[in-house]
Amino acid sequence: MSFSDELAARSQDRLAAIIDAGKGAAGDADAKALLQVALVNEISVSELAASWVASTPEIDVKLAFARQAGDEAGHFQLVAERLRALGFDVDGFVPPAANPLFQHLATLGSTVERVAAGLFALESIAYGVNENFIAYCRAHGDDETVRLYETIIQPEEREHQAIGRALLDKYATTADARERASATVDRVLEIAATTRAAAAGRLGVTCFPGC
Ligand SMILES: [Fe+2]
Ligand SMILES: [Fe+2]
Repeated sequence: MSFSDELAARSQDRLAAIIDAGKGAAGDADAKALLQVALVNEISVSELAASWVASTPEIDVKLAFARQAGDEAGHFQLVAERLRALGFDVDGFVPPAANPLFQHLATLGSTVERVAAGLFALESIAYGVNENFIAYCRAHGDDETVRLYETIIQPEEREHQAIGRALLDKYATTADARERASATVDRVLEIAATTRAAAAGRLGVTCFPGC
């Protein structure tokens, strides 16, 4: 079993708890409110990944963050276009200050921690919660948003996740590095569970999207 398989297995329950919180969610939210959550997440991950490009020495990891930053910017554009079609003023959108999750992510300095957090943990959460969001959109007849997520956004989130796993297997090779990667994933899942629960309380639904 590879290290990333081990890490996925040992974080499975905590990840499932975050994702299951948004499964078969009752409640009715404005589609525009949920898509604005996506806007915030996409721009936050894009900025985070971009902030790591110059200070990550390993060229393949540097490029992975650059690609992630670009892809998440693309997701932002897609969601923004969808919101515009729904009558939302995207030009007037101002991203809020970083939440506790992104404040924590910004403190990570080592390559292994950054990969564990930004590509492995965040993307695992994103893929799972986006599946719930797709189900919600489908149930509410928003086929265009379903199409965007299924054909473009989700395949790319899955790819980011796979890149994260491959990079962890390549770079987390010592006991110390693996320990740090595990602790990082634990912490990200812990903070994400709290911030998502707080956002769910604010929005009145639990099925909002990730990055
Ligand atoms: Fe992503
Ligand atoms: Fe994304």
